[in-house]
Amino acid sequence: MLAEDLSGALAGISPGVYGARDFEAISQIVYRGAGIVLPPSKAMLVYSRLAPMVRDTNCGTFANYVQRIEQDPAERTRAIEALTTNHTFFYREAHHFEHFAAEVRADLLARIAAREPVRMWSAACSSGEEVWSLVLTLLGPDRAEARRIIGSDTLVLATDLASHVIAKATAASYAANDLEPIPAALRTPWTEVRGDRAVIAAEARNLVRFKLLNLLGEWPLSRPFDVIFCRNVMIYFDQPTKERLVARLAAQLRPGGFLYIGHSERATGPAERDLVQVGPTIYQRRAA
Ligand SMILES: C[S@@+](CC[C@H](N)C(=O)[O-])C[C@H]1O[C@@H](n2cnc3c(N)ncnc32)[C@H](O)[C@@H]1O
Repeated sequence: MLAEDLSGALAGISPGVYGARDFEAISQIVYRGAGIVLPPSKAMLVYSRLAPMVRDTNCGTFANYVQRIEQDPAERTRAIEALTTNHTFFYREAHHFEHFAAEVRADLLARIAAREPVRMWSAACSSGEEVWSLVLTLLGPDRAEARRIIGSDTLVLATDLASHVIAKATAASYAANDLEPIPAALRTPWTEVRGDRAVIAAEARNLVRFKLLNLLGEWPLSRPFDVIFCRNVMIYFDQPTKERLVARLAAQLRPGGFLYIGHSERATGPAERDLVQVGPTIYQRRAA
């Protein structure tokens, strides 16, 4: 469906309030700001997510709201955040955590024993389920071993573009049922159930730093990472953006470090020089 042919899809909405031109303008703003491609099939979603903001800002029509977000960076940020898809869940793509536990964790423990720093990054972490799954897998079921990790120079960065999901991730409090996919041997020591809620233990929370970060922008990162999870965000980007992002992620790994991407994503383009595929959607940076 072309953007000009949206009248059927938008039946019931007054063309004076929202039409194909408004959708086109909003898609371009979101693409420029976040790299997210909004195909015409998302026209109704754009309407339903932004209509409350058109109302709250007293803009009256989407055309006025487009003008507003073109001129007002704070409102533009709010609009882009509202158009992100934040679906995630604990232990999503379990084979990644199993690979990390079986193939990567022991090396990280050896680095910790040698007093070397360990750095991991959950890039596009959404509401935190991914980073907590990773941290609980790192800590493992054995408290004595976990104490060595907790006392070491180990830090996990978790970033996302959207402030509302970073707030939820930082709060680290979820419906208790949501944690069920995490194996009980990891869930029991590192989460505290309070009624129908479960909170991630303070020892795990202390390892993580949450930050707002647009993957398309500057990355104020100093050290290279041992492990990067960047899953289910590239699906919203076009091919050149995906290739640029994977190349930057590969460059941000230390030699021998691991990159995990989403089940329908591929690490293609210039990064193929630096990465070796070691499992389904799991890549390792070649040794220097
Ligand atoms: C579907 S969620 C994926 C969450 C998690 N990684 C997972 O696999 O379950 C995609 C996340 O990417 C974030 N996102 C989209 N574009 C982004 C960008 N340009 N920079 C940083 N984060 C972005 C969204 O805010 C959203 O929270």
